[in-house]
Amino acid sequence: MIDQLYRKAVLTVAGQKTIENAVRARGWGMAQRFVAGETPQTAIQAVHDLKKDGIMANLDLLGEFIESPAQCTQFADNVITMLDAAHADGITPYVSIKLSSVGQGKTEGGEDLGLTNARRIIRRAREYGGFVCLDMEDHPRVDQTLAQFRTLHGEFGGQHVGTVLQSYLYRTEKDRGSLDDLTPNLRIVKGAYLEPETVAYPQKADVDAAYRRLVYAHMQAGNYVNVATHDESIIHDVQMYALAHGVSKDAFEFQMLYGIRRDLQRNLAAAGYRVRAYIPYGRDWYPYFSRRIAETPRNAMFVLRGMLKG
Ligand code: FDA
Repeated sequence: MIDQLYRKAVLTVAGQKTIENAVRARGWGMAQRFVAGETPQTAIQAVHDLKKDGIMANLDLLGEFIESPAQCTQFADNVITMLDAAHADGITPYVSIKLSSVGQGKTEGGEDLGLTNARRIIRRAREYGGFVCLDMEDHPRVDQTLAQFRTLHGEFGGQHVGTVLQSYLYRTEKDRGSLDDLTPNLRIVKGAYLEPETVAYPQKADVDAAYRRLVYAHMQAGNYVNVATHDESIIHDVQMYALAHGVSKDAFEFQMLYGIRRDLQRNLAAAGYRVRAYIPYGRDWYPYFSRRIAETPRNAMFVLRGMLKG
């Protein structure tokens, strides 16, 4: 409850234009903790830096309020530019996309534009041996995202496309089971949107319990799992579960956001676990930065301390 109030308060303040202008003018230094840079080149540099610590990367081009079909297609082109740049730099690209950013829900040429553009992105990623994860958005998009994931999985195979399930939704355990026939590569998250009680657990304890059940069930079914959380107690329990059930360290990976719990990321990698950081980059960094601040007062303190230092 307090978490929700804090999140709402920060997002309301951050949404004000004067605050945005002030942070945009002075805040880039602090935002750099969470955002790798504004260009593909700065993101690629972050990939190389993380590699020194044995941490893999997942690149995410930031973009919000991409409205027109032309903007969606331009956004997809920008993702493809990143794939080309990564490949040219010797990196096997792993990227995440939001289907809404590339046109989901808009019809063009008789087909959903999100599907058309995702296909273009995955086709290019496959050429380079890469992987594309379809992020999960708010609950009205879940059905279409899962249906499009199934289509794309059929066309490109599970080595090149995966998606995300959110443990806060009541429906998710059923969704997970319904995908087992694909042996899919899934990222399990708690869920980042403000969802109503009609569709999502209001209590954090229920979200956490569902999270554990989902990860264990996905491992048990013999599928590759991306355990995307900063929750140390869950991470510990997953390690214990894997040990107890003979799940090898290369059958799953831990995923965390760039700049968050860097100590934990390094320690897990040093202990031989696969670890991947989700690296956001791009000019449109402000809304993403605001959401990270809204997630925990610890991040707000980090920024405040930075601002006070001048
Ligand atoms: P939780 O919020 O319970 O926090 C556990 C611990 O981690 C606490 O101690 C907390 O303070 C700390 N912590 C959590 N977030 C922190 C932060 N930002 N800074 C510092 N400490 C933090 N969501 C979604 O709906 N769709 C998606 O596709 C994705 N994709 C995705 C990819 C990756 C790699 C990650 C890590 C997360 C996502 N998410 C997401 C977001 C996810 O749903 C969730 O909102 C955040 O991961 C925060 O929840 P935690 O699981 O970390 O635990």
